[in-house]
Amino acid sequence: MHANLLSLLDVGIPALLIALAVLLLMVQQELGPFSGLKGGGKILLMSAFGMGVFAFGLKLTVATAVAKMPERTVAPLVAANTKAVSASAALPSPVGPPPPGPGHYVWQALPEKAPAPEDNPTTPDKVALGKRLFFDRGLSADGSVSCSSCHDLNRGAGADGRRTALGIRGQSGSRNAPTVWNAAFQSVLFWDGRAASLEEQAKGPLLNPVEMGMPSAVAVERRVVKNASYRDDFARVFGPGSTISLKRIAEAIAAYERTLITPDSPYDRFVRGDGKALDAAQLRGMALFQSFGCVACHRGPNFSDASLLDGQSPLRIFPAKATPFDSRYRLTADGGASGRAGRGVWRVPSLRNVALTGPYFHNGSVDSLEEAVRIMANAQLGMTMGPSSGRALYWSQQDKVLSQAEPRFISEGEVKDIVAFLNGLSSDSLVQHGK
Ligand code: HEC
Ligand code: HEC
Repeated sequence: MHANLLSLLDVGIPALLIALAVLLLMVQQELGPFSGLKGGGKILLMSAFGMGVFAFGLKLTVATAVAKMPERTVAPLVAANTKAVSASAALPSPVGPPPPGPGHYVWQALPEKAPAPEDNPTTPDKVALGKRLFFDRGLSADGSVSCSSCHDLNRGAGADGRRTALGIRGQSGSRNAPTVWNAAFQSVLFWDGRAASLEEQAKGPLLNPVEMGMPSAVAVERRVVKNASYRDDFARVFGPGSTISLKRIAEAIAAYERTLITPDSPYDRFVRGDGKALDAAQLRGMALFQSFGCVACHRGPNFSDASLLDGQSPLRIFPAKATPFDSRYRLTADGGASGRAGRGVWRVPSLRNVALTGPYFHNGSVDSLEEAVRIMANAQLGMTMGPSSGRALYWSQQDKVLSQAEPRFISEGEVKDIVAFLNGLSSDSLVQHGK
């Protein structure tokens, strides 16, 4: 197409130049001493002519620039097996590993402390009060449910092990309970990211009719005020005589949640310098997690782009591509932040402790972590299950460039390696407690 344009210009330019000369001659006649036009008419004709020449020049420049742009038609060639690991292992390498390229991904360990907002500093007394509130069933309408019922810190690794949450009077919610461990590092909370802080989030379940079912903020406050030792706690934390409000209740709970962090996983020990903390399968999984592109969304120290630690884009479409897993697990019945059924918009969850917090996804429809990884590879990265990992090679005839595209296939062995790596994100102490 570009070649056609160029050949058109080859014939076109001389023809246009001749036409221009004829036009110039005619105009000169009109403007010359024998012209019938008066002063005003002459100026009008001259400016019209000038504009015409200018527009023509502009078009010519644009056309030439477009024609000169390199053509980027790249055709898929073959899916060849490139076993990079074994190839490099076969070659003795006297120079050591290659230096990291410009687009390299930097792995980070979890900080030992979670950041707190300026207007709600984390203090030991506030944390103690928050902990008490977190475990208090008295804050639910019928006294049967506390935060910890659905976020069992030890046995459930901060979740409940159910598909969807079970609230007061045996009512089932429609979404899976995520873990509260490391929620303190997330920039937005809930599966759909609708809460902007832990403070805002904590008010939700207290008043949610199928969770703790309290009828109003005042009703919650009354329950707390009734209790003399809570009154003492609030005075100690917020100052004598300060009112007990839902806002302060939520602040104390949020402060407690900021202490629920797990920087003690094998992955963190590995990044901090213990080279033996991850085994060979986990390291292979870690490399695949990066090269397949999981890090595009599950990135940074909390494995989520919805993070206070340099998170950039908290919400993503899921499933990003049409996938056969959709009908099997009803992935599009709830559209999350999009507000309607269909391929929804969801907050990128952290993958810390994910091996301990099944079932998976917002509707808890998937039991095994292997299956969750297969779904992610297919729905988010467009990969299909294949016998082996291949790299698609693309040859551009015009540029004479051979390039490699993202791997398109994921094998069962690779799924297992990624799962092994995800197990390396489990906190040592939570694994110990869960036994
Ligand atoms: C009946 C079960 C239940 C109870 C009780 C409950 N939660 Fe939850 N929690 C859930 C569910 C389900 C979600 C996800 C809801 C959603 O995303 O729409 C959730 C989400 C959260 C999140 C967000 C985590 C994240 O990664 O986004 C936090 C934090 C949290 N709950 C803390 C609490 C606190 C604090 C309390 C007590 C005040 C509490 N929960 C009580 C079930 C419960
Ligand atoms: C384009 C963004 C994106 C990419 C790429 C991506 N994920 Fe996800 N991941 C998400 C979102 C969004 C969710 C939440 C889906 C939902 O709401 O149910 C999620 C959920 C998950 C879950 C379930 C978490 C839970 O607690 O239920 C796992 C496990 C997971 N991803 C692993 C991976 C792996 C492994 C890869 C690479 C093969 C990957 N993801 C690639 C965005 C992504």
